Amino acid sequence: MDPTTIEWDERYKEGGEALPWDTGTPAPELTAYFSRVKEVPKRVLELGCGTGTNAIWMVQQGSHVVATDISPTAIEWAINKAKSAGVNVEFKVSDICNENPVEPKSVDFIFDRGVFHVMAKDKREQFVQAVHDSLSDGGMWLCLAGSADQKRENEDHGPPQLTATELISSVEKLFEVHKLAKTSFLTPDGHNYVAWKAIFKKR
Ligand SMILES: C[S@@+](CC[C@H](N)C(=O)[O-])C[C@H]1O[C@@H](n2cnc3c(N)ncnc32)[C@H](O)[C@@H]1O
Repeated sequence: MDPTTIEWDERYKEGGEALPWDTGTPAPELTAYFSRVKEVPKRVLELGCGTGTNAIWMVQQGSHVVATDISPTAIEWAINKAKSAGVNVEFKVSDICNENPVEPKSVDFIFDRGVFHVMAKDKREQFVQAVHDSLSDGGMWLCLAGSADQKRENEDHGPPQLTATELISSVEKLFEVHKLAKTSFLTPDGHNYVAWKAIFKKR
């Protein structure tokens, strides 16, 4: 395993407080998106799905979901959760920086909660290109990312923080910006981190 994979996998092996993003409930921004669209997206890719809560929820809404993560432990956990829930998710261990996890133009909707924001600056272009390649024409990407608009006493605590300019300038060449709004990452230990809720449409 390469160092990035090991780092993420170690966190999933540790579990508990090492996974402050793992709320165990579907993201409210995702459920709101599904409740607003005329038709539930048929073919979905979730990047960095962690322990699979959102992927499982989307299948329960009627989507076919491919869900990937760099961490084999997270995917093992997600497979077991899906089995217990009795739903069929196509889980894959995959590093978005090394390979496109699905065939070009094979999905209509991509969901990423806290994954684009963990990419090193020199990987962002590759990430956005992979999202673009995977989406069908006019496909949508719902991206949730930490916001730099929150001043923190301890900058080491909480999700990575992107400015609106960093987020938009990374995607604008390949995506129309449909929505950029503030939201929150509420963690199981009671923290409330300001985040971006961005909806992008493939150009
Ligand atoms: C902050 S966590 C969010 C997990 C999940 N989306 C959630 O909300 O529970 C970031 C996730 O991205 C995954 N990840 C990090 N780098 C990745 C990469 N290059 N390719 C795929 N997944 C990656 C990590 O293993 C981790 O599960």
